[in-house]
Amino acid sequence: MTNATISLAPLRGVTGLRFRQAFQAHMSGLDLAVAPFIATVQGDRVKPEILRGIEPSVQPKGLPLIPQVIGKDARQLRVMLRAMKELGYTQVDLNSGCPWPFVAKKGRGAGLLRDEANLAAMLEAGCEELGEGNFSIKVRLGIEEKTLLAKRLPILLRYPLREICVHPRTAKQMYEGTVDLDAFERICEACTLPLTYNGDIRTLEDYQMLSARFPTVSRWMIGRGIVANPFLAESIRAGKDTRDMARFQAWHADILARYAENAPGDHALLGHLKELWSYLAPTFKQGDQLWNSLKITRTRDEFERVLRLVPLQWR
Ligand SMILES: Cc1cc2nc3c(=O)[nH]c(=O)nc-3n(C[C@H](O)[C@H](O)[C@H](O)COP(=O)(O)O)c2cc1C
Repeated sequence: MTNATISLAPLRGVTGLRFRQAFQAHMSGLDLAVAPFIATVQGDRVKPEILRGIEPSVQPKGLPLIPQVIGKDARQLRVMLRAMKELGYTQVDLNSGCPWPFVAKKGRGAGLLRDEANLAAMLEAGCEELGEGNFSIKVRLGIEEKTLLAKRLPILLRYPLREICVHPRTAKQMYEGTVDLDAFERICEACTLPLTYNGDIRTLEDYQMLSARFPTVSRWMIGRGIVANPFLAESIRAGKDTRDMARFQAWHADILARYAENAPGDHALLGHLKELWSYLAPTFKQGDQLWNSLKITRTRDEFERVLRLVPLQWR
């Protein structure tokens, strides 16, 4: 059993509204979710369709949602935060981790760590708009070097942030290589704000290893691990594997129906399903065979036929 806080990581294109709705209808174990990023806009008005994925009336009950913003302009950040406040959100997260070069090179995402003055201006704007303890930041260890976050930490610690969430990789690493736990430990020792650990928690054993190594950390964020195994948060709470094939099938049928309802056709639906199964497939013994067959399907019927033909067994 654990009393830790477990949050769902934002994965743009994966942990959006439909994923969260299906998760909450069939699974449990998550305390909150951070929504995939929404980019700041020019001008003083945010079009409602930009905020569709975080529209409060359709969010699943029991899974508080924290929207996330990506941008580099403090004035534009304020415009977006006001639009989110108008929807009723009191807490918002700032993306300072997106590793894609075309984002980071322009000073957004992980690139925010480069310019000290602008980083401070963004934090200042966020804390002023939302008030103490309501603005947070999700960061990596650095862009090229894993020491940049440690250098910027004194700036972050000047602001009354809700938390700092650290994914201990550099942007250069993207999602490759290993997380640097020694570097996370150094941040952990120096951080006086609430700290969340995020990265490569794929199994109950991963969580047990990390929580033993970092006993002062009580906030854990999980992304790909939950997409690959939607029972993971629940298993962490129970301290044992809670996977159940009948519940998995019910969850899968539900998420497929939700995607289908909102996709304009098979092509769009298959885009969602293939993205989902690129994470799910390795969870099963037949994963390689299954994924090779699924990724070449062209219609919903074909996709469902492949799933019916391959009897699923957990790895
Ligand atoms: C497809 C994909 C989309 C992502 N989108 C976002 C995003 O919108 N905002 C964000 O802060 N991080 C984003 N991330 C990073 C994740 O939130 C998380 O930090 C990363 O996957 C490591 O955690 P994990 O190993 O538990 O998945 C994304 C990652 C992936 C793979």
